[in-house]
Amino acid sequence: MEETERTLAYIERLTLRENPLLHEMEQFAAEQRIPILDKHAAAVLEWAALLKADCNALEVGTAIGYSSIRIATVLHGGANLITLEKSSESYISAQKYIARSSVADKISVVFGEAAETLPRFLPESFGLIFLDADKKDYCPLLEPLVTLLQPGGIMLVDNLLWHGNTVKPDEEIQPSWLSSTRFVREFNELFFNHPRLHAILLPVGDGLGLAIKK
Ligand SMILES: C[S@@+](CC[C@H](N)C(=O)[O-])C[C@H]1O[C@@H](n2cnc3c(N)ncnc32)[C@H](O)[C@@H]1O
Repeated sequence: MEETERTLAYIERLTLRENPLLHEMEQFAAEQRIPILDKHAAAVLEWAALLKADCNALEVGTAIGYSSIRIATVLHGGANLITLEKSSESYISAQKYIARSSVADKISVVFGEAAETLPRFLPESFGLIFLDADKKDYCPLLEPLVTLLQPGGIMLVDNLLWHGNTVKPDEEIQPSWLSSTRFVREFNELFFNHPRLHAILLPVGDGLGLAIKK
């Protein structure tokens, strides 16, 4: 076993809690090649959601509802999660898994393109926002999402290292990954220099952006 793998296994043993439904979802996602959040990044997401547990949360990119369930599980009392999904197939899968979870009453899955569904929410509505959508949509969604985040609210963004590609010279990137890599790089410049955000990049999973709104 390599040193990194051994370290991750050690962290997993110490910090990750077993949940049969989440375990089933992880296996389903692996079998169907559906990209869901890495377990360690999901632990950070849950921890951040706990800091904002009394506030409503928003997610862009539901897939099968894995990260949605992880966020909603830590929300308190009347706080809810709204999660946006544009694929009808994923929307149906998410509804099925969420219905089997203990937090179905805390999650609303909204079907449609985020750019079209976001305007229905009011500015500063959310204490936590998680962005995990198509990379081409990251830049256009940044300003609307910052507007929806409360001051002191937390924003997380997945895939900012994009399988190691964001740091590679273009010549070393597979041609099929080049345009998405450029989208992520462009987003990173905006996100890490945003005047309303104090953002850091955690080398967890596929690179997790973590920001607080000033
Ligand atoms: C990486 S997956 C989300 C994984 C999920 N957050 C998790 O960790 O369990 C991305 C999902 O976002 C959806 N998506 C991508 N761009 C979107 C957009 N602009 N609006 C709404 N949904 C989007 C895709 O259909 C896909 O199901």
